[in-house]
Amino acid sequence: MNVYLNGRFLPLAEAKISVLDRGFLFGDGVYEVVPVYSGKPFRLESHLRRLQASLDGIRLANPHDEAAWRALIGQLIAQQGSEDQSVYVQVTRGLPGEGEPLRDHPFPQAAVPTVFMLAQPLVTASPAQKAAGVCAVTAADDRWLRCNIKASALLANILLRQQSVDAGCAETVMLRDGYLTEGAASNIFVVKDGVLLAPPPSNLMLTGITYDVVLELAAAHGIPHVVRPVGEAELRGADELWMTSSTKEIMAIVRLDGAPVGAGVPGPLAQRMDALYQTFKR
Ligand code: PDD
Repeated sequence: MNVYLNGRFLPLAEAKISVLDRGFLFGDGVYEVVPVYSGKPFRLESHLRRLQASLDGIRLANPHDEAAWRALIGQLIAQQGSEDQSVYVQVTRGLPGEGEPLRDHPFPQAAVPTVFMLAQPLVTASPAQKAAGVCAVTAADDRWLRCNIKASALLANILLRQQSVDAGCAETVMLRDGYLTEGAASNIFVVKDGVLLAPPPSNLMLTGITYDVVLELAAAHGIPHVVRPVGEAELRGADELWMTSSTKEIMAIVRLDGAPVGAGVPGPLAQRMDALYQTFKR
């Protein structure tokens, strides 16, 4: 398997970075996960725009322009070869320059960013898994206040996600000050009385590319939808709950903290949106 590292495509085992890389020492970097369907990256423009926003958010210059990113990602996809893939893209602040402190919090003056990309086969949920849905648990969102940056420093998300693993579930749904924010690695939608509800984009969540697509599909197909804060009671009283992400697509949550969501099976709107998404993504 070939990966991309700092200008070269090379076997995974040969891809090495320095222990002084700020991505390793400080989690000082950002990332993207781009789904690829039938060899074509899905919504690449949106992912590259969000990457730019994340880089701006951490005050790191983008090492490539859009054309260069497209070319590099295209080459990686061709080398991976699978029809459906997920491409992981990471940019870190890299290494301190010559004569600079080896480990120091402030940005190095002469840092050269590290760019790493990895393409893996993307295996999405089977019809049986979609029909079963998944369970989730809730937790207080104790992350920082800049969750709109897709930061590679994911310790808080990892600890939150592990709570759901420990409960035998697929996601941790987070609440901050009584309101739904998002999942540990996904966005969360609520359906009540036939209306799709989504929390508004803010610094308290990452605006998913899948989230945007779901809302676009809802608008295009006349599905009632409202983007507004969703309180805890609405979350717990939902007819349907969905998690969405580039790798999970649209997955129904059928149990929350052990209690059934609605009828306890994937609801009609989840099935409809999944069908729309499956058609749209190809
Ligand atoms: N995560 N919110 C968080 C915290 C996420 O980590 C993700 C995705 C999303 C959904 O974003 P999108 O629809 O653009 O994938 C929302 C990726 C898949 C990951 O970390 O692997």
